[in-house]
Amino acid sequence: MENLSPAEQYLQDAHRRLPGVTSAMFGALPARTRHAQYASSYALLASCVPTAATAQTVLDLACGDGYLLKLLAERRRSPLRLVGVDMSQSELDAASAALPGDVTLLNERAQTLSLGTGSVDVVISHMALMLMRDIEQVLSEIRRVLRPRGRLAAIVGRSFLQGEVREIFMEVFRPIAREHLSHLPFGDRRTSTEDGWIELLGREFQNIEFEDVEIEWAPSPDELWNSLLGTYDIDRMAEAPRERLRAALLQRLSRLQQSDGTIRAGWGLRLITAQAA
Ligand SMILES: C[S@@+](CC[C@H](N)C(=O)[O-])C[C@H]1O[C@@H](n2cnc3c(N)ncnc32)[C@H](O)[C@@H]1O
Repeated sequence: MENLSPAEQYLQDAHRRLPGVTSAMFGALPARTRHAQYASSYALLASCVPTAATAQTVLDLACGDGYLLKLLAERRRSPLRLVGVDMSQSELDAASAALPGDVTLLNERAQTLSLGTGSVDVVISHMALMLMRDIEQVLSEIRRVLRPRGRLAAIVGRSFLQGEVREIFMEVFRPIAREHLSHLPFGDRRTSTEDGWIELLGREFQNIEFEDVEIEWAPSPDELWNSLLGTYDIDRMAEAPRERLRAALLQRLSRLQQSDGTIRAGWGLRLITAQAA
């Protein structure tokens, strides 16, 4: 793959070392919107793919290890044609091992898709669009491959941890990161707000809607730290500052431990749905 930005090179390297890291983090955590509760944020996105009697092509953009595609592949007597795209071959290898042979997996960047114009009914994407540079080009590609009035449903990050755990994390993380973490910009800042998404999607999509998604998570301190090791900024830290972060964080979080030893943490995600204009 040519002309990868430093952030994309890092992502490729990280997902080579840690394939399946995202589904390991979110696959078993319940997700809640204002209207309903789901087994996970993947199950919520899967519910955005209609159960249709006629064949539909569904593209999972940046599919990782195929966790979301697997939920769709397991639908009974489903006429779905499933396609996954990712730029990490290690993630695609994991997906290929987990998915039925009729799921198409493509090693491509979302900025330049090989899929035909108007060939897809639904594009889904879990925790990936906010990482992508040239997001306008990515959205134009999504629009191009979607048929008119085809649907986009994406889950992106909204809040790294929640509540008091987030406050403590930020207090401990920021000074260490300022001193020890090189700046590596992922994605486009507009993907962090609803206004930004309206600006990005407004030209080529209609019926744009947002839902806050709350991920419930009550880990033990060790579980919390082990999950954080799979997040990009902490993964990028050298060993010594990372150990300083671990020690300071676990010490500060200990007062939040409940009688069963867990801490009320959580993640804030955002569901975006839109229709190709
Ligand atoms: C946080 S992981 C999410 C993976 C999967 N969707 C999930 O939730 O389990 C981000 C994924 O996006 C992929 N990715 C990032 N930028 C990409 C791009 N421009 N084109 C294709 N894949 C990309 C990475 O390789 C990685 O697999």
